[in-house]
Amino acid sequence: RVVDAAGLLVLPGLVDVHVHFREPGMTEKEDFASGTRAAAAGGVTTVVDMPNTVPPVATAEEFRRKLNLVAPKAHVDFGLYGMLGQDNAEEMTAMAELGAMGFKLFMGQTTGDNRCPDDAAIFRGLEAAAAAGLVVGAHAENDHLLRMFIDRLRASGRTDPRAHLASRPAFVEVEAVTRIVTMATEAGTKLHIHHLSTGAGLRRVRDLRADGHRVSVEALVAHLLLDDSAYDTHGNLIKLNPPIRPAENVAELWAGIARGDVDVIATDHAPHTPAEQAEQDVWCAHGGFIGVETMLPLLLTAAAQDRLSVEDIVRLCSYTPARRWSMPGKGQLAPGFDADFVLVDPDATGTVDPATMHSRHNVTPYEGRPLTGAVVATYLRGESVYDKSGIVGAPRGRHVRPAPAGKR
Ligand code: NCD
Ligand code: ZN
Ligand code: ZN
Repeated sequence: RVVDAAGLLVLPGLVDVHVHFREPGMTEKEDFASGTRAAAAGGVTTVVDMPNTVPPVATAEEFRRKLNLVAPKAHVDFGLYGMLGQDNAEEMTAMAELGAMGFKLFMGQTTGDNRCPDDAAIFRGLEAAAAAGLVVGAHAENDHLLRMFIDRLRASGRTDPRAHLASRPAFVEVEAVTRIVTMATEAGTKLHIHHLSTGAGLRRVRDLRADGHRVSVEALVAHLLLDDSAYDTHGNLIKLNPPIRPAENVAELWAGIARGDVDVIATDHAPHTPAEQAEQDVWCAHGGFIGVETMLPLLLTAAAQDRLSVEDIVRLCSYTPARRWSMPGKGQLAPGFDADFVLVDPDATGTVDPATMHSRHNVTPYEGRPLTGAVVATYLRGESVYDKSGIVGAPRGRHVRPAPAGKR
């Protein structure tokens, strides 16, 4: 079979290590079929799905149940995180045996029932992950501090969207980053910081690395492309944990990308219902919004503006995540790798149009944004899963397990 790619770029399929496709238990927001269709249409051929579901994926039994539930609905390949929770180290070991891609540690309050484990429980969880050779991905915000700030702001009567930003000052992130990096080094764990959001956090990571600590760092498309002026136009739609921050901070994240301090770009695709996002009181609105389908077009647009290169996109969104999480066959177009690839037209112009998108609710702060660069077709293990006619074929996504411990 011949694929005509005249005038197009061929990129390895993107690997988005941070999505919430909401199964089980929150399918009013998204489900695995709609989420993976959005991924396929966005040129994302592998996703890692987060465990803050109902119930949370904190036991081997729940892991097995989720795998059986979502596998038949997947249009792209997927890894599944388990939870590093309060006193579930044995369950983590059992989830590792079932093929968990890693473990999420929620240090700070966010969507779902996930109080931060105490430090001893975190340490035991880090040890369990280290023994299994798997990554722990941290949501690094200090829970006690941000809850205190939320209580204060609520008591002062503030309910506006910027109050959410005020409740999560940079040092709340810096403190959690410092604690978890230090603990992970001691426990011998591969640590990843999801959605690092502040220049101060990035500077702390540089210091920690200079001291010999090893950690990978993720920036979100949303933290790179939105700043706090968007609270005026989009209100609680852009509520996100950690928050959308001022433009100076956004510039520091871009500088971190240019310096190579950021290892991975991901989406934190975190859908909610339109009603949950439209809540007027910021403390009632839900944090997070969609992004998996718009990541590549938006980053290609940034490349057209010389904010990064297409090679950077491939490294940050495919090559490095596939290596860091030891995903066999992913992240490169080379002999011995899966034929997961995306054809993009780097010159195609358009705008972000929710009417053409595939999530259950296509409410996006990027609506109407001009784009330079479009996904033309997506291939998963050599088979078309998306082209200009739309989603192609029945779900054929597979569960991706990390490579066996000896081969990582
Ligand atoms: C995420 C969600 O809704 O699941 N929300 C968010 O604001 N980022 C949870 C998370 O990643 O913290
Ligand atoms: Zn998070
Ligand atoms: Zn998330």
